[in-house]
Amino acid sequence: MALADYTSELIATAQFLAAPGKGILAVDESTKTIGKRLGSIGVENTEANRQAYRGMMFTTAGLGEFISGTILYEETLFQSHADGESMVDKLGKLGITPGIKVDKGLRPLGGANAVETLCTGLDGLVERAADYYAQGARFAKWRAVLQITADGCPSALSVRENAWGLARYARSVQESGLVPIVEPEILMDGNHSIETTARIQEQFIQEVYHACFANGVLLEGTLLKPSMTVQGADCPDKADPAKVAAMTVRTLERSVPASVPGIVFLSGGLSEEAASVYLNHMNSIERKAKWNLGFSYGRALQHSCLKGWGGSNVEAGQQALIARAQANSEASRGQYVPGSQPSSDEQLFVAGYTY
Ligand code: 13P
Repeated sequence: MALADYTSELIATAQFLAAPGKGILAVDESTKTIGKRLGSIGVENTEANRQAYRGMMFTTAGLGEFISGTILYEETLFQSHADGESMVDKLGKLGITPGIKVDKGLRPLGGANAVETLCTGLDGLVERAADYYAQGARFAKWRAVLQITADGCPSALSVRENAWGLARYARSVQESGLVPIVEPEILMDGNHSIETTARIQEQFIQEVYHACFANGVLLEGTLLKPSMTVQGADCPDKADPAKVAAMTVRTLERSVPASVPGIVFLSGGLSEEAASVYLNHMNSIERKAKWNLGFSYGRALQHSCLKGWGGSNVEAGQQALIARAQANSEASRGQYVPGSQPSSDEQLFVAGYTY
């Protein structure tokens, strides 16, 4: 099989995932990262507890009304719920398409600034993607990360390497029928202004699409997952939601081709409420481009859910999850009334965060 065999399926999957009023639930934390989350509620990081937590989310009645896809970690794609039914089938019953994180994490980028990284996992990716497809996955995720620092990051080398890696990944998984979520994240670490973020993000995303063009990526069968255009976490000058929305939309309009069907933001350490409010603003203002602006949140969908669940309270966890899913669905239509659903204002930003 080759990309050409999957063209119409890739386009249909991308459109399904980016359907108006729906978004993606990111549950693809590595075993180490989910261990930190479970640790924060005093739950041990065992396979049974990971299964219980994720199984609770994947049996939330009505979730498919607001969520079109879920990004899984490899363990979960091949795992069953405690009741014996596979997680893939649980999601299928809710009308949710499973996806898979395919990158193998960040490594230091030799020749660049000490904090800079490249994203690994290209070796054998076409074959791995075919296995994931056979298991039921229909989309993939790869997260490349840039940092902004006072001493010159991101370097030109880092921008080029990370953009190229995203495009090679996108092409590779499309060869096996998976829609690539292209995730060029700019970390919130630092004290830079929102204008600085906008300038660097615009250049990075442009470079990503130059590389996609060079690799023959089918743009109609992709989604973009950017960070929102915000100032560094330590910048004293905090932009209000209207400015974040205007700067984010301007940045994307300057860099994302019209053929990309959907843009699904990561939450990147924003609080649950801020992630909804910013998205709502973006969907309430005049825009030149037509792509759907939605969400693919991890922390901003799971924070209250994890706390509500607390290791055993399935009902409280599911209630919190569906509340945030509905809020973000409304925000993706510009219809969210801030505070109308239970949420947390707690900043979820962690310096030097690794996913
Ligand atoms: P956050 O929304 O927690 O940033 O996670 C989304 C994600 O998939 C990061 O790669």
